[in-house]
Amino acid sequence: MTSHPEYNEKTTATEVADAFSDRIRNKNVVITGVGPNSLGEALALAIAAHSPAKLILASRTKAKLEEVLKKISTGRPEMSSKIELVILDLASQKSVREAVAQILGCIDHIDILINNAGLMMLKQEFTGEGIELQFGTNHIGHFLFTNLLLEKLCREVGSSQGEAGSTKIVNVTSAGHRLSPFRFQDYNVDGKPVPDEEQPPAAMIAAYGKVDTYNGWIAYGQSKTANILFSVALNERFRSRGIVSYAVHPGSIWTGLGRNLDEQGTEILAKTGTYWKSIDEGAAPMLVAALDPALDGPPEPNRVYISDCQIAEAAPWAIDTDAAKRLFELSVELVGIDTA
Ligand SMILES: NC(=O)c1ccc[n+]([C@@H]2O[C@H](COP(=O)([O-])OP(=O)(O)OC[C@H]3O[C@@H](n4cnc5c(N)ncnc54)[C@H](OP(=O)(O)O)[C@@H]3O)[C@@H](O)[C@H]2O)c1
Repeated sequence: MTSHPEYNEKTTATEVADAFSDRIRNKNVVITGVGPNSLGEALALAIAAHSPAKLILASRTKAKLEEVLKKISTGRPEMSSKIELVILDLASQKSVREAVAQILGCIDHIDILINNAGLMMLKQEFTGEGIELQFGTNHIGHFLFTNLLLEKLCREVGSSQGEAGSTKIVNVTSAGHRLSPFRFQDYNVDGKPVPDEEQPPAAMIAAYGKVDTYNGWIAYGQSKTANILFSVALNERFRSRGIVSYAVHPGSIWTGLGRNLDEQGTEILAKTGTYWKSIDEGAAPMLVAALDPALDGPPEPNRVYISDCQIAEAAPWAIDTDAAKRLFELSVELVGIDTA
């Protein structure tokens, strides 16, 4: 259970940051995917209000990062020297490596990492390495980013601060993970045959038929399943090292996420929400995951998913420990690293 069972879909990030102000003060925080009117902006604004030691904003568009920095600095000029802007294109493994090098040059440990960046596409596109763009950006880019930073994250372990939960990794997922299990036999979603357990749920098959060609919704769903499986794997792998991870659904918020959808896609997206949150409300569950001391212990897989600021139930395929291990191994292969 969280410390605030009364928090719900209307709770704001501002409110959560106020409640856990002492968990932000003097901490090093890294957020990916930051631009105006995005969840990353709401996260950055809420955290900047409580004097972190360093706030690193990593995203792919410099002008958007600068706009958010300006917004923060207008109210809090003292924050300008504590904020680092980092160009990070998660769809390029070279860019991820360069971003990590820059980050490692300005902090010596990380307390909170919020892997928030993401995109939604209907057409099949690929990263520089030939990986389907939604999987490649939403999961693989963050996988490489996180693992390259783990050396920093792990440095705390064994120190006086190396308790469970001393480093929180929040992976921003979506209720859209229910659209598809991870397709190990077909991760680029080319429409190759997959075993029954990797098939989308019956409602998706009824709507779209069997996946025999690219389907952007399935690809988004599998990438968001991958975000949850990554949290499961991190908790399993780094259980003894002070690293704790949660996967968080922010809710339904009108941001730039639907920018690549056509009219029909936008109509479909509009039907997915019952209550449309402000960005401050959308960012709240990520801050509950990052800051609430009641969530400091590594969660069991069935308690890894957070929605509307409370622990919630994820689809079974997203919390399967074998799938989490398999995805971790596949991801290592796709990014070519030795893991910590
Ligand atoms: N909004 C919702 O209703 C909703 C619901 C469920 C889950 N989510 C999740 O919430 C997260 C944040 O999304 P949002 O709603 O705030 O959408 P958004 O306004 O589109 O923000 C996404 C952010 O990710 C960045 N980004 C996209 N591709 C990137 C790349 N290759 N490398 C680095 N950064 C990249 C974008 O940068 P640019 O602007 O520079 O492209 C932007 O800053 C995503 O993971 C999304 O899946 C959102």
